[in-house]
This record gives sequence, C-alpha cells and structure tokens, in this order.
Amino acid sequence: MPVHLIDQYHDAHCRINPALLENRALLLLEILQCREQVFSLVLVDDSTMAEYNHRYRKKNTATNVLSFPAQDGDEQFPGQEAELGDVLISVDTAKVEARRQNKSIHHRVTELIIHGLLHLLGHDHERSEQEALAMWDREQELFRQLQSKTNSSLERRTMPHLAINVDHVATVRQARGITEPDPVLAAGICELAGAEGIVVHLREDRRHIQDRDVLLLRQTVKTKLNLEMGAAKEIINIALDLKPDMITLVPEKRKELTTEGGLDIIAGEKKLARTIQKMSKAGIPVSIFIDPDAVQIEAAVDVGATFVELHTGRYCDATSEEERDLEFRLIEQSAELAFESGLRVNAGHGLDYLTTGRIAALPTIEELSIGHAVISRAVLVGLDQAVREMLAIVRRPFPGQ
Ligand code: PXP
Repeated sequence: MPVHLIDQYHDAHCRINPALLENRALLLLEILQCREQVFSLVLVDDSTMAEYNHRYRKKNTATNVLSFPAQDGDEQFPGQEAELGDVLISVDTAKVEARRQNKSIHHRVTELIIHGLLHLLGHDHERSEQEALAMWDREQELFRQLQSKTNSSLERRTMPHLAINVDHVATVRQARGITEPDPVLAAGICELAGAEGIVVHLREDRRHIQDRDVLLLRQTVKTKLNLEMGAAKEIINIALDLKPDMITLVPEKRKELTTEGGLDIIAGEKKLARTIQKMSKAGIPVSIFIDPDAVQIEAAVDVGATFVELHTGRYCDATSEEERDLEFRLIEQSAELAFESGLRVNAGHGLDYLTTGRIAALPTIEELSIGHAVISRAVLVGLDQAVREMLAIVRRPFPGQ
C-alpha cells in the first residue's frame, strides 16, 4: 500500500475519518505519478507535534504539518517501493485552522497533506519567494485535480453495519403483559445472525422496552448497544449508569406511535450541548437523529455530536418515484456533508427490504438502524415453522391415552 496511515490521534469522539484521508493521499500519489512510491501519513495531537517541532526545528510550539523526506542512507529492501518519507499532521491545529478558515476539517487536513507531500518531493517555500509562490500555485492545482477525481467517487472502504432495533419484540410482549417474547433473547439471535449492533429505545412511558431489558442487554450484547432516548433527566441518568456503547438522541412525544421526525437541534441547543457534555465525560459517544438538512448538520457539529443518524422516513414513505428520488438525493447530499464535516453518519427509520439497498450503497453511511421491517418479516417467515412445531405436538399421541 503506497500510503501508511498511522492514526495516533486518539480522541473517543474523534471526528476525523482516516479512510477518507488515506484515499485522498492515494489519489494524490496517482496525480503526482508517484504510485510506485510510498509515504507515511501520521495523525497526531498538538502535544506530540510540539515534541517533534522542538526536537527537529528547535521551536517550542506545535505546528500544523511537518515533513521528513527519506534520507539517501535510509534502508530500502530490493523490490520495495521507494520511500518518500513521513508527513506528520496535527489534527488539533488543523481543527483550529479549519474553523478559522470556515472549511471542513477534512478539507484542511487534505491541504496539509498536499503541502507535506510537496515538501517530500523537494519543494520548499522557505528557499525563496519565487519558490513559495510556485509551491502555493501547485498546491491549489493539486487540490482542484483531487476534487475533480473525488467528486463523484467517494470510495467505500468498509461495508455498512446493520444494527437491529428490537423494540417491536418488546411491544408484542407488553401487549400480553407477560415475559415472552423476550427482546434480550431476540437481540442474541440478531447477533448470531450477523447483526453488528442492537438498538433499543427506552421511552419515558416504558411502552415497550423496560429497565430490566436495558440492564440485561448491557450484560449480554456482544456487538454494540445503542440506547435510543429522549433528553429527559431520568433517562439521561439511566444512560450514564448503564454506559451503552453509544446513545442516539431522538425527539420523544407521548402520543406518537413511533419517532416522528428528526430532532430540532437549534431549538434545544443548550440542553443538547449539556447532555452531550455529560455523555462525553462518561465516555459515551452521542448520535443525534436529524432530518437530512444542512442546517441541522451544522448544528450537530456545533453541539459536539460524534454521529448523526439521518432520518430516512420521508424517502421510505414517498408515494411516487420522483418524490423518492428527490428524498434520496437529499439523504445522499446530507450524508456527504455530514461526513465531510467530520461527523460519523448513520441512517434509519422506515427502511425495508425494498428501500434499504440504495441507502446501504451510500459510501458515507456507516450504520443502518432497522427494526420494524425485520421484526415484521421474522413473524411471517417464522410462522411456518412455529405452526409446524405446534402441529407436531397436537398430532403426537399423548402417553397413556
Ligand atoms: N432510528 C430511529 C431514531 C428510530 O426512532 C427508529 C424507530 O424506533 C428506527 C431507527 C428504526 O425504525 P424502523 O423500526 O422503522 O426500522
């Protein structure tokens, strides 16, 4: 692999996407016709960068990027690609610069990768004003070339994850007020079938999932437990004690049948920011369920969310192909915008066996949260076996009769 990406920037709520940066670095090598050469791209924080800046440049502060071209004497093995060297980028400094320059973090880090790469290739803006101008022009040109290469081809590096919402199993149980079917058992079956996460919504009115369920799920879920919740004090305290792998904040109305729309982050900004701070302190990443809307995405970044979950309901409920296409484009653009802004992107609500494929193919979406369609299908595809098992009992001769 011509790019060795070393991600030393450890932040539980990190909004950097290493796969995206690695992909851009690869495309840059291609544009520069250096595909036969390798370089290391190291993402660090300000304190590590300050150490390097002190050690190699005798400067006592951090900086945005440092390049270390491979030395003539560096060891190279036969058949190995030629080493260009290392580019070190401080994500902390890049974040500050991105905010100041009104750019996304990935935009700024990409500029720094270009700058660092040109240094590895022998450019140096410190040698003369003329060279500084030439280097600046080359950077602009490379950025434009990269943009035209990536615009229509955001490459997926990993498959999207499927998280199953088991609330509806609890709904059936609560209809009888007994212990079956158990959503905890259902979660285990989902995991055995390959689901990469389990989602439950602990509602204030406890209409389906109960406190006992979330406690047991915390102990039994092997993949990832995502607790969907409104930002009510009682539920926040339960989440802080429970420590799910992540929470998804949703609007919650007592009379709704299911979550009706995305959260209006702007309307509840202060409360949301406080909730996210509390969760961050407890090490719980926060996702916010929003409509595919640029204003809400920007607000999600501002309140410090790690993820957004884009509401796919309008796309799924569309009654004509035109309407569905329109809603799909909105989700596609919003997902890209959120991803570019450094958010991790999930999607869900109303997805079924017809509508999921197109959303799952979006390269910026990390996880889909699906409940109703899977549980409904399970009832139907499982019914045949359930009836046969009962028939076997009904038709079996009873001992002693
Ligand atoms: N995401 C969120 C935020 C939800 O509220 C729900 C419904 O509980 C889902 C995803 C799953 O939706 P569905 O049950 O329609 O698949």
